[in-house]
Amino acid sequence: MYHKMSERTFVILKPSAISRQLVGEIVGRLERKGLRLVQAKVKKISREEAERLYAVHRGKPFYEDLIKTITSARVVLMVWEGRSAVEVVRKLIGSTDPVKAEPGTVRGDYGLDITDNLIHASDSPESYQAEHSIFFTESELS
Ligand code: CMP
Repeated sequence: MYHKMSERTFVILKPSAISRQLVGEIVGRLERKGLRLVQAKVKKISREEAERLYAVHRGKPFYEDLIKTITSARVVLMVWEGRSAVEVVRKLIGSTDPVKAEPGTVRGDYGLDITDNLIHASDSPESYQAEHSIFFTESELS
């Protein structure tokens, strides 16, 4: 069987993860799975950064709410590394809509609101490339 090499993924713990004091819980889940934390910063992101991050959603009915929510307070920006990290993190966080997310996933266990769904993670290696470079320089990740 073909095994993917170690790769990186980009994760944001949204403002509600901080206000609800779930940062340690979520980081602990990723660490216990075997993923390694490469870099992290806590920051209130600008509207411009949020618009770059969510460019594919521009024009959708939930777009303004999404931008407002992600820029409302500080978030935790992180890069994680491990075997098939993109796919593994998406599985650990669960479906976008917390109502549909399975118990045992972050959104399944702690979320209810679809916009304020606690966490964002890149959905492909291509999105990782586009997203992490908005917030991290290459020297921060070497
Ligand atoms: P995230 O993983 O950050 O990526 C895009 C975000 O848009 C998603 O999580 C949700 O917060 C939000 N989103 C996606 N679909 C909807 C929807 N149908 N209604 C409201 N928000 C949505």
